[in-house]
Amino acid sequence: MSVKRTSKAMFDLRSQMKFHLEITDKCNAACPMCGRTQQSNRCLPDMAKVKNIDLDLETIKRNFTPELCANILEIDLCGGLGDPLAARDCFSICEYFVDHDVKLILSTNAGLRSVDWWRALGELFARNNSVVEFHIDGLADTNHLYRVNTRFAKIMANAAAYLETGSVGEWHFIPFQHNQHQITEALELSREMGFANFKVIDTIRFGKENSFNYQMPDGTLRALKPADPQFIAAQAQADDRGEVEEGSVDSNSIPRINCKSENENRPYIVATGAVSACCWVEGSEDERQMYLAAGQDHNDHNINHRLLSDILTEEPYVSMFAKAWASQSNPVCIRKCGHMRRSRRRVL
Ligand SMILES: C[S@@+](CC[C@H](N)C(=O)[O-])C[C@H]1O[C@@H](n2cnc3c(N)ncnc32)[C@H](O)[C@@H]1O
Ligand code: SF4
Ligand code: SF4
Repeated sequence: MSVKRTSKAMFDLRSQMKFHLEITDKCNAACPMCGRTQQSNRCLPDMAKVKNIDLDLETIKRNFTPELCANILEIDLCGGLGDPLAARDCFSICEYFVDHDVKLILSTNAGLRSVDWWRALGELFARNNSVVEFHIDGLADTNHLYRVNTRFAKIMANAAAYLETGSVGEWHFIPFQHNQHQITEALELSREMGFANFKVIDTIRFGKENSFNYQMPDGTLRALKPADPQFIAAQAQADDRGEVEEGSVDSNSIPRINCKSENENRPYIVATGAVSACCWVEGSEDERQMYLAAGQDHNDHNINHRLLSDILTEEPYVSMFAKAWASQSNPVCIRKCGHMRRSRRRVL
């Protein structure tokens, strides 16, 4: 939902907000196309990016005060480098937000934690209709080819324990050539198990290539191949509830930038505590330039040292981003919120 504001600042703490929160950059899995993974080196984590760091409950409580929580519609517990379940304080952070009636949408490979933990999460999430997105890209013989180092049987047991509490779960499936024939079976299984939705993610991470080479942890060389779009479309059309959530419009013209984060009043915070405009801009040259132009030190914009409510009312969030959109000077913004080059999700 767009939020109408009179001030020009990118984020408005007095209006309804959303947040995207990466509570850790740790992960049990090693998906080859993930930013944390060295695909050519046994899918080991890229330690130039991964710091194995968490946001802790105290930091969350200090920054997400009850007053701020009262204005928050929902928080995505997702991120770019980690899995929320790997965070030490994952459960207590979820509990804190649910206690303050903030709806959570938690994205996970679901390979971590015990069934008892998952049952408790289900009971917690049932209290305010929070949602778990289970990112499962195949069945017993294929999921681990992308969700490297996870075990399908454990994921299914965890999902069943969560769903049995009546909480909302969605199955998100990235089709590749090696699992595209399993979409219908996975969809049926998701309905039997009580998932509320089954969504297919059309990945854009192949770019112009039609193959993505990687090395499994045991040294075996493999290649991911894109799914056949017509094959996927045929299955998507098989269900009349199919709908496109995010478009992917290619154009060579200069586009008008329609900032998703500003529209949704939805800042991004990573596991180091750094505040950012969104997960696309975070860590980019665009972001570096925004901070440079604003004369702000990005290290100061960290919720471990400063208050979120202060950070969001300072540059570059007051006017610098808006100026950059007007002058078309942020390539990431042009690509993501001008040309809308994003992975899209379809409900089957
Ligand atoms: C870095 S993950 C963090 C959350 C969690 N670890 C997970 O995987 O769901 C963020 C998102 O990237 C998605 N993702 C992973 N590989 C992808 C790919 N090749 N194309 C599109 N999205 C991908 C995940 O499914 C997840 O929704
Ligand atoms: S589960 Fe998520 S964070 Fe972990 S490697 Fe896969 S995409 Fe990355
Ligand atoms: S890419 Fe730029 S325009 Fe798009 S959401 Fe991020 S900051 Fe806003």
